[in-house]
Amino acid sequence: MATMRDVAKHAGVSVTTVSHYINKTRRVSDELQMRISAAMEALNYQPNALARSLRRKITHSLGIIIPDSANPFFAEVARGIEDASFEQDYNVFLCNTDGNPKKELIYANVLVEKQVDGILFVASAGTAHDLMRTLAQRKIPLVLVDRDLPDVEADSVLVNNRLGGYQATRHLIDLGHRRIGCIAGPSDLTPSAERVTGYRQALAECSIPIDESLIVKGSFHYQSGFEAAQKLLSLPEPPTAIFACNDLMAVGAISAAIKSGRSVPGQLSVVGFDDIQLASYVNPPLTTVAQPTYDVGMLAAKLLMERLQDRDLPPRRQYLETQLVIRESTAAVGVPA
Ligand code: RIB
Repeated sequence: MATMRDVAKHAGVSVTTVSHYINKTRRVSDELQMRISAAMEALNYQPNALARSLRRKITHSLGIIIPDSANPFFAEVARGIEDASFEQDYNVFLCNTDGNPKKELIYANVLVEKQVDGILFVASAGTAHDLMRTLAQRKIPLVLVDRDLPDVEADSVLVNNRLGGYQATRHLIDLGHRRIGCIAGPSDLTPSAERVTGYRQALAECSIPIDESLIVKGSFHYQSGFEAAQKLLSLPEPPTAIFACNDLMAVGAISAAIKSGRSVPGQLSVVGFDDIQLASYVNPPLTTVAQPTYDVGMLAAKLLMERLQDRDLPPRRQYLETQLVIRESTAAVGVPA
């Protein structure tokens, strides 16, 4: 079986140059790349990936940890990560934690055992001290995606959630709504807390008193949005509009409104957050705050691979902007749709 030395001899280059070409550890000129590639084909040389990874402790694999693989938002983030990683010859392992910090830690240890080169992490709770400790001990680079963790110095890709919550609520105020419900996600997760802050900021800016009974907690899942909306719609003075902190809960709110005999948006306007594909398919199509979800994934992978090239880079926090997408689930108050 041909060896790396045979390839080097056939191509008329050093073994070191062949090693740099195979492991992508240094740039090799186009001309030499062609000669090495031709020699590998002529000799039917198969690089030994496992031996290479053991020698260099580089496996060219990454781990992705997400809290809910059934939520299209995380599937699209993972897609962006996977596309960017694959372009750079990295494979990915996708781990779903069901929002369970214990499962999160189990998967972190599995990925450590698999000797992944780095991890892209969407936290399922407000803290992840054990997981962070595990990765720090093994010096495995980490990128925080979508959810920030307090007192953690790591590369992060986040969106401007506060502005997104403000945009959603201000849109409803501009339509004349004054009784605006808010279905929050888990309060220990930064995206939800920041969106509710934006909701409060828009009301305060328009001198609309904040009625705490209009703010109901959900779990980012459809059913929690349905139940939270039922609670809001059974208030003595029900809201005429609801801002839900993600699209799955917003769709649940639409279902609850229709079940209560209300039309959307005629008798209740609903705004979501994420702009998953479902948002444009649901009836009526959902007004929502679009996240650059795929780009969040692509950028997170880019930051991680730059970190793998230079471990001494200072932590980078990148914020991407959201955009209000107005569809048919919102209308001026009191105007029959
Ligand atoms: O839909 C899931 C939610 O959790 C999204 O809004 C995303 O930002 C994540 O935090």
